[in-house]
Amino acid sequence: MTDVRLTRRELLAMGATTTAGAVAVLSPLPARATANEGQSRTSPVNESTVSLEVNGRPVVLQVDNRSSLLDVLREQLRLTGTKKGCDQGQCGACTILVDGRRINSCLTLAIMFDGASITTIEGIVTAGQTHPLQRAFVKHDGYQCGYCTPGQICSAIGALDEIERGVPSFASDDPAAMPKRTEHEIRERMSGNLCRCGAYPNIVAAIIESAES
Ligand code: FES
Ligand code: FES
Repeated sequence: MTDVRLTRRELLAMGATTTAGAVAVLSPLPARATANEGQSRTSPVNESTVSLEVNGRPVVLQVDNRSSLLDVLREQLRLTGTKKGCDQGQCGACTILVDGRRINSCLTLAIMFDGASITTIEGIVTAGQTHPLQRAFVKHDGYQCGYCTPGQICSAIGALDEIERGVPSFASDDPAAMPKRTEHEIRERMSGNLCRCGAYPNIVAAIIESAES
């Protein structure tokens, strides 16, 4: 019998890449009262039809009007790469991209996004290739438990795009000048994404290298 043994580090590295490489399963489950677990089942009057493009695929969903976008992605579309940390906008674990901009999906209702294009960690792989940020995170050991990693990577995509578009941050010396991809800027722009394992130096190094490649 083949002896298959992996170190913890090898197992996590596989997870960081396969999470993003997984085929997105977009067979929606029925709407649930996910925003109010434990309360009575919602009635149809509390549901709405929402059309989304999720990771490049069109999907039409019946959603509970009270459901956050995070819950709809995880519970109805089974896209569990996006994590629920605090569920109150404080940790960034639920960061996704909506029409190219990063948002905390736990803080927004799914019904607000009819017609929107959504990208989750499962959708950043192109042509079977992991995203440069994913490769940089693996190279720089930008994670330990990996729970914050999908949110960190989606947030970093948004942060680098903001720098590219000249959006100033609190760390920008001159709001009228084009921001630079300095460590100071990256740290400020990623400050909404917490890492309980404290992998910040490696996360920043991964983002800077990815931006320069
Ligand atoms: Fe959304 Fe923490 S789960 S910010
Ligand atoms: Fe564990 Fe960030 S790697 S929370």
